[in-house]
Amino acid sequence: MDTDNLQTPYFVIDEEILERYYRMLTDSLGASWENFLVGYSFKTNSLPWLVSFVKKHGAFAEVVSEDEYLLARHLGYDAAEIVYNGPYKGKASFCDVLLAGGYVNLDSKREIGWLETLTAAHPDRNFSVGVRVNFDLEKLCPGETTMGEESGRFGFCYETGQFAAALRRLAAIPNVSVDGLHLHSSSKSRSVGIFRAIARTACRLQREFGLTLSYVDLGGGYCGGMDGRPEYPDYFPAVAEELSACFSPCQTKLIVEPGISLISKCTTFVTSVYDTRDIKGTRYVMTDGSRFNIDATMIKTSHMFHVQAANSSARKILDRQVVSGYTCMECDRIFICEHAAELTPGDRIIYENVGGYTMSLNPLFIQYFPAVYIRRGSELIQVRRKWTPEDYVQGSVTE
Ligand SMILES: Cc1ncc(COP(=O)(O)O)c(C=O)c1O
Repeated sequence: MDTDNLQTPYFVIDEEILERYYRMLTDSLGASWENFLVGYSFKTNSLPWLVSFVKKHGAFAEVVSEDEYLLARHLGYDAAEIVYNGPYKGKASFCDVLLAGGYVNLDSKREIGWLETLTAAHPDRNFSVGVRVNFDLEKLCPGETTMGEESGRFGFCYETGQFAAALRRLAAIPNVSVDGLHLHSSSKSRSVGIFRAIARTACRLQREFGLTLSYVDLGGGYCGGMDGRPEYPDYFPAVAEELSACFSPCQTKLIVEPGISLISKCTTFVTSVYDTRDIKGTRYVMTDGSRFNIDATMIKTSHMFHVQAANSSARKILDRQVVSGYTCMECDRIFICEHAAELTPGDRIIYENVGGYTMSLNPLFIQYFPAVYIRRGSELIQVRRKWTPEDYVQGSVTE
């Protein structure tokens, strides 16, 4: 396919790289802890093609809302193939997953209440649950966590005794067993040390509370595809070494919930320059991509990208070009291009490592969702067309 004629902006997922990363994940897990399960993080990117790819490769769906649960079901997942996490589960889907024997990691007292009602209505059945642990990872890995000195806001806090209280309340339900711990914690570093500390915490809790666990869920938060940073094969030997102190693969499954690490490396976002303008000494380069497409939470300070020039004409070197998005928001300035060849209309700016969160966090603001293509060999295959106003108005009434 002649990509030069494709209407920008669009995302491209390179299938071969995605395959490579999925295989790297499962090979390295299998080599370190043969009893494992991948719960693919829907929130990171729930593009239907991608969901179907990971499903075909054996991943369960890691979902954090009733909508995500219903999407997983819509895309062919059985309720037993769900890992249900997060603070905003729906009661109906919570019950569906538990009744089907999927994985539910309890996040709050509200959910324990739901469990008490459900189990009382099914006294002849046994229910297995996991508990999300809120623990002070910052103390174990100073300066590395996202929440820093302040506490995280998910799950039952170990240090305050809320985790112990939750276990006591669950122990009082005759047909419930606590079979799993969910220890996802967001870190800035995504270091191997973070995952060592998480695995060590699982051991500590197992010993302190005498738990018999059929699974330990490490959550997500790994690095993938970043030069000089850890890859999957760096994490799991360290995790296995720690877990082996208290667990064995024949009794305890290791659950991982990768998102960004799996899909960043294989995804690019292709944009075009459509105009340039000079205002008070500043060169603005206007592009048909937006910061909202690749940095919706406005936190990125740098981007990985390369430029494909539209022609081979000689270019001046400019000190400073403000590469901007198509929206009418002043803050839609994507990056400052310093001491680089002048960008002119028709040039393409291709952002790399943009598969995680960017596609699913895209707002329907001014332009609708861009198209998504799969690169398979030399072909580009469209797996989502650009959204149209017809897509936008679905479900609406006008009178
Ligand atoms: C519970 C849980 N699992 C998995 C993930 C995926 O994390 P990442 O995309 O960083 O791998 C997240 C992200 O915040 C999460 O909250």
